[in-house]
Amino acid sequence: MPRLRVEPSNIELEATMGETVMEVAERQGYYWPVGCARNGECTNCAMEVVSGLGRLSQMGRYERLNLLRQRGPRSIEDPRLRLACQARVLGDVVVYKRGVAKL
Ligand code: FES
Repeated sequence: MPRLRVEPSNIELEATMGETVMEVAERQGYYWPVGCARNGECTNCAMEVVSGLGRLSQMGRYERLNLLRQRGPRSIEDPRLRLACQARVLGDVVVYKRGVAKL
């Protein structure tokens, strides 16, 4: 089972292969900052991938487009910036996101 760690809160979670990062956290009772219906529009859920970038699903066209639209061209230059509601866990990953907390 893939492991997901969320910094800086040092939260350790078990993921099911193919779940989004946000689904992993919410299923285990954690709040993740959102501003839309978890459909990739708001980019409020954006996180930095600390390690395991290749163990997340590839960025899709829609995610890329919304990052570009909401956060500007620099946001898509760094592949470590991903949307937690879109990136699917395929292996062990460490991400950085402030505001993730137990409900
Ligand atoms: S929750 Fe809105 S883009 Fe992910």
